[in-house]
Amino acid sequence: MAEKKNNILPPDEMRRQYEYIEKIKKENDKYAESHGARKRAFVMTFGCQQNEADSEKIAGMAEAMGYEVTSAPAEASLIVVNTCAIREHAEQKALSVIGQYKHLKNKNPELIIAVCGCMVTQEHRVNEIKHSYPYVDFVFGTSSIHRLPQLIAERIERGRRIYCPEESEYLVAEGVPIKRGDGVRAWVSVMYGCNNFCSYCIVPYVRGRERSRTREAVYAEVAELVANGYKDITLLGQNVNSYGKDSGYDYDFADLLEQLDTIEGDYMLHFMTSHPKDATHKLIDVMSRGKHIARHFHLPMQAGSDKVLREMNRRYTFEKYISTVGYIREKMPDAVITSDIMVGFPGESESDFEDTLSALERAKFDMIYSFIYSPRKGTPAAECEEQIPDAVKSARFERLLATQNAISLEKNKPLEGRTLRVLCDGRSKNNSEVFSGRTEGNKIVFFDGEDTDSGEFLNVYIERADTFALYGKIIR
Ligand code: 5AD
Ligand code: SF4
Repeated sequence: MAEKKNNILPPDEMRRQYEYIEKIKKENDKYAESHGARKRAFVMTFGCQQNEADSEKIAGMAEAMGYEVTSAPAEASLIVVNTCAIREHAEQKALSVIGQYKHLKNKNPELIIAVCGCMVTQEHRVNEIKHSYPYVDFVFGTSSIHRLPQLIAERIERGRRIYCPEESEYLVAEGVPIKRGDGVRAWVSVMYGCNNFCSYCIVPYVRGRERSRTREAVYAEVAELVANGYKDITLLGQNVNSYGKDSGYDYDFADLLEQLDTIEGDYMLHFMTSHPKDATHKLIDVMSRGKHIARHFHLPMQAGSDKVLREMNRRYTFEKYISTVGYIREKMPDAVITSDIMVGFPGESESDFEDTLSALERAKFDMIYSFIYSPRKGTPAAECEEQIPDAVKSARFERLLATQNAISLEKNKPLEGRTLRVLCDGRSKNNSEVFSGRTEGNKIVFFDGEDTDSGEFLNVYIERADTFALYGKIIR
């Protein structure tokens, strides 16, 4: 077991941030009184659920500082862009959005524009912002989210741009206010960072080493959410399976999950992401016995070829992976299993790629998130000389999708004629005539309904299933 290590930010540091919060709030209250309206804050989020969760903290702090959170950047006095770095495309999108805010700053020189998140936890991107985006007021990395109040105060007082250097240590900040997206679904981080260094991935460089929250902190947060009527709670971490190891806790993720499951109420627990090398039978056993634990396993496989898996530094073989899938299905025949698959990793041969396609046929995932490999500066795979040409990557991507789409349909078809428990999300965004919701396995369902509300668990009879969605009617 790892040596006991305290990864928690000293509470004094958070108290200091609350002092800044109070100070800014006073100013913002005065402004609201004289102008008859509050200053507004807009948070733009790119990337994964962890970033969504971080943005909820940014919005929470903004609200505590007396800003009203808005969805309209044009009316904001504070704009925070929370960036992603997982692929080149994500960075380009963020840069283009930051570019669009220049005219807002021209119109309103008082506007504060901040950029945070994974993209600007890389030195070359900080330099790029410094030189090419002079209207950005300050930049802060993933370990400094909780310091937003201080950064705003310093920017206002000192009037110069700030490039917050990453602290040498990445710590868990407890007690940051959170403004949740809705009252039904919530994210709860159980750990931060990643120690795995998959050879293609930027995450360990931009999110630091693994550090876990205590189970008391996680339990208290989940219990409060359930008490406040939240129905679907997703526990987050880059690799939840190594929860607790960094801090030398004498409990692991399976123990945590089992304890959370004892919370009384009508709710469901999801978790992501699991690394296959650490997915234990103990965890699967806990899930199969669970009362509130969704029988949904997101288990990124990445590739089906052992050679590619080795080069990716994934530390499992396909056979090891498929035996875990087999154990999940043995214990929970109805479990929904989803995965992440990447094509075009450097050196991936046609035969390696075909191994991925046959792996899909054996694993029979309900759904996959598919990615084209994108070289990330500073990672070992980006240095590899055998980069795959874009045209080959795209052609493989299309074949990957076609193969998986047929499997997804094959997995969904037997659901026709069954009645599933669905958490209602309200009227569908694209067609207000129908309602939409998600099954325990996160499959999207469209159904006719009256008197239904977002946040209700419903029984829906599935009349039709296609590749990406299920369609049905409510059974009362
Ligand atoms: N290029 C493409 N996809 C990537 N992912 C991570 N890094 C890269 C990269 N450099 C994918 C992996 C991971 C998911 C979150 O993003 O499949 O599981
Ligand atoms: Fe990236 Fe691998 Fe860590 Fe996932 S486990 S965040 S893919 S390094």
